[in-house]
Amino acid sequence: MHDGSGRILVQGLNKSFGPINAVQNLNFSVEPGSVTGFLGPNGSGKTTTLRMILGLVSPTAGGAFINGQPFSRLPNPATIVGAVLDSQGFHPGQTARTHLRCYTAALNLPDQQADQVLELVGLSSAATRKTGGFSLGMRQRLALATALLGNPQILILDEPANGLDPEGIAWLRGFLKSFASTGRTVLVSSHLLREMEHTVDNVVIVSRGQCVYNGDLEQLRAAQQSRVLVRTADPATLVETLRQSGIHAEYLPDGSLAVPGTDSKTVADLALGAGVAVHGMQEENLDLEQIFFQLTTGQYTGSAPQGPPQPGGPQPGGPQPGGPQPPQGAAQWGPGAPQQPSQQPSQQPPQQPPGTPPPGTPPPPDQGQGYQQVHPQQDQNNQGGNGGYGGNA
Ligand SMILES: Nc1ncnc2c1ncn2[C@@H]1O[C@H](COP(=O)(O)OP(=O)(O)OP(=O)(O)O)[C@@H](O)[C@H]1O
Ligand SMILES: [Mg+2]
Repeated sequence: MHDGSGRILVQGLNKSFGPINAVQNLNFSVEPGSVTGFLGPNGSGKTTTLRMILGLVSPTAGGAFINGQPFSRLPNPATIVGAVLDSQGFHPGQTARTHLRCYTAALNLPDQQADQVLELVGLSSAATRKTGGFSLGMRQRLALATALLGNPQILILDEPANGLDPEGIAWLRGFLKSFASTGRTVLVSSHLLREMEHTVDNVVIVSRGQCVYNGDLEQLRAAQQSRVLVRTADPATLVETLRQSGIHAEYLPDGSLAVPGTDSKTVADLALGAGVAVHGMQEENLDLEQIFFQLTTGQYTGSAPQGPPQPGGPQPGGPQPGGPQPPQGAAQWGPGAPQQPSQQPSQQPPQQPPGTPPPGTPPPPDQGQGYQQVHPQQDQNNQGGNGGYGGNA
């Protein structure tokens, strides 16, 4: 018998696909009454984990529990968990309403429930349109409507913001927050922290299948937001001086120091007091996106195009007009596709983590950048692995 808590518990979860360790020893819980973001770059194991929570993939080791039970043991699961793993699985010839009525019939729910969830997700006006003509954002909404049919206690959504326009994102944010505010549970994945930062209360951040942060988003912001970078003639003395004042400094590969959680005046005063010459100092404020990069850096880092096209014509060795453009942010959309609302052109995250040398630069002896986590080497083979409509049926 399930405990009705609305809690998702992931314990020692592992999944290997042959030599690929997609998920490694994941432990976290998702509590009711809040929105939890499950964040990580491409191929970091998010979908695989959600599929294991939903009983669609068997773990190699460990387990996942909803209301104290594996998904497969939940009675009438559509009333407990609504899930969307993929918004592609609609019959193109069916209307939105017919699609939903297939599910109401299968779930033994009243037919009018279909129109109620269409209204909830803002698709009432498209009820009689065939899903084959739906945009990506409309399909996301219809998939969410399907997940809501059983009026579930828990929502599990894999990248639900993909394809939504700015208004759609704002609507999704409001919807998830109000869903959680009624004491229900939301677990929502994304590869863009910035997309989720105003939606989620807690985050579980994964990289290469491993958890690199689990906790309150505000604490993450507060703990790692700023640091002072110092170049000094005598780093060892400055490290010791700072240590005596309770300030921890870290060596960077170029011999300078990174001093988190303080300001340049404090560092300068302490250096002066110790008689240490300072050659340069810079305060670095990391926004959440940069923190995210620092935590998850390097799984599938691409290389930059060989110089952007110039207005006057192609540059020698550069891309041809119409060729690939420099990446802007973590995701780009094809022509005519919706914009990612949270990507502000003036604040694009770097395509590589801060401090990453340009392609071709020999690696420094120590890659540590202060915030960087150490990851074991892992496969570089990203074959996707999503698939199937993870609704309630
Ligand atoms: N069925 C499968 N067979 C082989 N490898 C798989 C399978 N499913 C997933 N993988 C691998 O597991 C790793 C994690 O994939 P997963 O789809 O869980 O990542 P993700 O975090 O959801 O990525 P994305 O942001 O691109 O959706 C990848 O290396 C992927 O290639
Ligand atoms: Mg995925």
